[in-house]
Amino acid sequence: MNADARTLAESFDLERLTAEFYLNPYPTYRALREHEPIKRLPNGALFLTRYDDLVTAYKNTKAFSSDKKKEFLPKYGASLLYEHHTTSLVFNDPPIHTRVRRLIMGALSPRAIAEMEGDLIRLVDHLLDGVAAKGKFDLIGDFAAAIPIEVIGNLLGVPHEEREPLRDWSLAILGALEPVIGEAAFARGNTAVQDFLAYLEILVERRRAKPGNPERDVLTRLIQGEADGEKLTAKELLHNCIFLLNAGHETTTNLIGNGLVTLSEHKGEKERLIAHPEMIKTAVEEMLRYESSNQLGNRMTVESIELGGLALPAGTPITLCIGAANRDPAQFLEPERFDIGRTPNRHLAFATGAHQCAGMALARLEGAIAISHFLARFPDYALSGEPVRGGRVRFRGFLSVPCVTNV
Ligand code: HEM
Repeated sequence: MNADARTLAESFDLERLTAEFYLNPYPTYRALREHEPIKRLPNGALFLTRYDDLVTAYKNTKAFSSDKKKEFLPKYGASLLYEHHTTSLVFNDPPIHTRVRRLIMGALSPRAIAEMEGDLIRLVDHLLDGVAAKGKFDLIGDFAAAIPIEVIGNLLGVPHEEREPLRDWSLAILGALEPVIGEAAFARGNTAVQDFLAYLEILVERRRAKPGNPERDVLTRLIQGEADGEKLTAKELLHNCIFLLNAGHETTTNLIGNGLVTLSEHKGEKERLIAHPEMIKTAVEEMLRYESSNQLGNRMTVESIELGGLALPAGTPITLCIGAANRDPAQFLEPERFDIGRTPNRHLAFATGAHQCAGMALARLEGAIAISHFLARFPDYALSGEPVRGGRVRFRGFLSVPCVTNV
């Protein structure tokens, strides 16, 4: 076992992953954590798997930069994908990051999120009516993916009849963030940014002509900026709207999909949650930890720094493996056990530090309502066929999961 684990760690290459890895990356993550927790990949980047090392990197924005202008140039060239990813707040450092984040956080205030609850419950119950009528259904297409698209569509005030292309655009743009992409994925990503920008220009023009209430309407708030004069440029506005639509979409779909699939594989925990619906909050946290929808993050050192006893020179590309850190026994008791009552549970599914997920309160609310209402309605649901994985290493989830409401 140990020799196998050592070989697994030695041969790990993020750019050459096996089908087995995509199915279950956790034995590899464990082998890396135990044998090469700061693994130098063949392309020179370092791959971190220990919880404490991730926290150190997340918290030190001065040494570990999120700015991707240098790193993405060889990958994307002077393309729209490059313009998009390097303009969104997640891939910038202070002061640009601080300015854009302040505006976005203002639009995602606890009050704004609390006000979404009623609509969210109505949406989930309506989707569950559709599932009940079908009996046999796709957990992702008929349920999990349909929720975030509506929530973010509402957040930015995208009319219902105009939401259809959002999911494909989002999948194409985020798909281009995979460690290796072919020509087709690159072309799809660029076309998606182009179409998305063209659509948002129209939406923004309409909203400028007829502003909404900035207390409730996120797009109006982003257009108008802060009272003290802090405003986004036209380019920042469009690209950060795309980013918001993308950031909250695939990740939340995967939280709901992964959560319900994991429950179906852990019958005892499923029964426990059905008997104790008040445990939904800790259950959602455990789903986020156990099958994190966003498994990887990236940073670049911009000064020489010591990490885990290793001296890193400036200019070292770093991959932070959230999926591995969330199963680190130095932080979590019995980390391979799925325990819906786990406390404390300081997982890194939303990262930590200055870039910690700006939408985590919304994601948690969506996850809790979707999963608790689903379980209350279909306590006997079961998988009825082979689920299809998304085939991504960064975003872990399913494209489709055939299910029945009753076995
Ligand atoms: C389960 C669902 C979600 C997960 C697992 C997730 C995960 C993450 C992670 C790990 C980051 C940090 C990336 C980094 O710095 O390397 C992040 C950032 C971000 N997320 Fe989320 N996210 C989720 C849902 C959402 C939602 C619903 C929204 C908004 C509607 C959102 C908006 C953002 C934004 C704006 C950032 C950038 C924050 C910054 O750079 O300051 N996310 N998310």
